[in-house]
Amino acid sequence: MDYLDLYLIHQPFGDIHGSWRAMEELYKAGKIRAIGISNFQPDRVMDIITFNEVVPSINQIETHPFNQQTEVHQFLKENNVQIESWGPFAEGKNNLFQNEVLRTIAEKYSKSVAQVVLRWLIQRGVVAIPKSVKKERIKGNFNIFDFELIPTDMESFGILDLKVSSFIDHRNPEIVKWMGSTKLDI
Ligand SMILES: NC(=O)c1ccc[n+]([C@@H]2O[C@H](COP(=O)([O-])OP(=O)(O)OC[C@H]3O[C@@H](n4cnc5c(N)ncnc54)[C@H](OP(=O)(O)O)[C@@H]3O)[C@@H](O)[C@H]2O)c1
Repeated sequence: MDYLDLYLIHQPFGDIHGSWRAMEELYKAGKIRAIGISNFQPDRVMDIITFNEVVPSINQIETHPFNQQTEVHQFLKENNVQIESWGPFAEGKNNLFQNEVLRTIAEKYSKSVAQVVLRWLIQRGVVAIPKSVKKERIKGNFNIFDFELIPTDMESFGILDLKVSSFIDHRNPEIVKWMGSTKLDI
């Protein structure tokens, strides 16, 4: 292919400024429609914004009911970076699909837990990229535009927020070191 819609830096490690400048060139040449970042905390986002020309179009970060990213989301809004959720279902961790709070809300709207979680995300202005290998689930995960969660139900999600990653801490030096050790020699 000779054109990409979106290209991201996966993690805030290594030569991110070199990568970003190469991506800016491709963006300016019209080869990539939008360029963005992933797993960047606000200080790293500001570093990219401050020392380069193009502001990232999105920051794809872990965002789901157990890690709601409210403060990071606010920071991204103020800096014109769209938040995008990876792991919108926390990959099923903490028994997300069986969670009582979520099941109660889902039953009220005759929707699935997956659908109310996705609806909650988009009503907050979060872009979500759910993953499923099952056709019926993929269809169901798209079917979230015929209902709206009322404010009190939106607020009910608040008590689920643990405010920590269910997977990985990108600020932990040991994680950074481990990522470096898995880097492929090309
Ligand atoms: N930028 C990053 O660092 C990063 C990190 C992780 C993931 N990602 C991306 O984020 C996207 C989301 O993937 P993810 O795997 O992390 O997490 P996810 O979407 O939160 O969870 C996927 C899990 O949920 C199940 N599922 C999906 N729809 C369902 C439904 N309607 N009912 C019940 N179960 C359902 C899937 O099972 P089935 O497949 O069996 O349906 C799978 O086990 C992917 O595109 C991935 O590449 C990015």
